[in-house]
Amino acid sequence: MNLFSTLVLRELNLKNRIVVSPMQQYSAKNGIPGNWHLVHLGSRAVGGAGLIITECTAVAPDGLATLNDVGIWNDEQEKSWANIVDFVHEQGAKIGIQLWHSGGKGSLRHPNLGMKPLSAEEGGWTVKSSSATEMNGVVPQPLTIEEIENLQEQFVKAAQRAVRAGFDTIELHAGHGYLFHQFYSALINKRQDKYGGSLENRIRFLIETVEKVRLVIPEGMPLLVRISTVDYVDTPEGWSLQDSVSLSKVLKEKGVDLITASGGGFTNVSKDKVYPGYQVQFATALKAQTGIATGAVGMITDAAQANEVIESGHADLVIVAREHLRDPYFAIHAAKTLKLEISIPWQYKRAF
Ligand SMILES: Cc1cc2nc3c(=O)[nH]c(=O)nc-3n(C[C@H](O)[C@H](O)[C@H](O)COP(=O)(O)O)c2cc1C
Repeated sequence: MNLFSTLVLRELNLKNRIVVSPMQQYSAKNGIPGNWHLVHLGSRAVGGAGLIITECTAVAPDGLATLNDVGIWNDEQEKSWANIVDFVHEQGAKIGIQLWHSGGKGSLRHPNLGMKPLSAEEGGWTVKSSSATEMNGVVPQPLTIEEIENLQEQFVKAAQRAVRAGFDTIELHAGHGYLFHQFYSALINKRQDKYGGSLENRIRFLIETVEKVRLVIPEGMPLLVRISTVDYVDTPEGWSLQDSVSLSKVLKEKGVDLITASGGGFTNVSKDKVYPGYQVQFATALKAQTGIATGAVGMITDAAQANEVIESGHADLVIVAREHLRDPYFAIHAAKTLKLEISIPWQYKRAF
């Protein structure tokens, strides 16, 4: 087994183990993916990755972080996604959509304008979360039970749109300090109802959403979940690897096929904890302790390193973010370096 071995998840057949990690582009208007997204995602499909995952895609307008994020809550967005999906498929790659709600980390200015909270005049909105715990200087409003149920319905509708648009898989973004994470981490969740308190209660919002989404997507379509495996906070409230093992067991039981083991979202991670392949250990631990397939992400930048993750069985997928910005042809270059087979688009054959 190596980086260019196929992987089958339910009825999805990936031609290799290289994934383009979701990366927000802050380049959309009205949540509609446009020419930038077609070229950005399309060129990485040309570049040979087996699976491309879209940037986090909001299930509702108040799930955006900035007004330039993408969404999938209306027909126009769905149609534009379908066009991108078609192009990626024409290149022989598969494409997943990362469904997302920012919760208390929403209503922010574009990163080029400093990502500070938007004013009402700028189109800002009241952000809501599990609890009224401050995040980035803003105190969100706690969600009511009715609002939680409504949010789950928005995930269901977005999943149905994603299926119609032709996506091969769906990933729920349950990491990086966004809404699902704001529920399962006790750093933020201070609720006293059935969605707060014990670990079982704090993971309930995510688990119920998984159940509801699983019901409306085809049996043959894999469902992925990205989690923050650890909060990188050494207090009893901080989410730990052991908590992630407990969560992953339930996710597996509920029909989740693969977990991306990411981390953090509420605090800056100290520099000594970030080094090449620093989160592979989490993917390995979840896989070993629960038997679920996992994806490794974080500072995986070269062919030999990526191949080692797969060859050693440490994870099932290698998920590459920034290196794919530096090199859209990461997969083709990796195959060349490793002297392994990859098909090159006929239009580009004379160059490789
Ligand atoms: C520009 C940029 C945007 C990102 N946007 C997302 C996102 O939309 N969803 C997500 O789960 N992670 C996002 N991330 C995190 C990456 O997917 C990845 O987990 C992280 O960059 C570590 O991988 P790397 O070292 O290969 O870059 C983003 C990272 C970057 C650099």
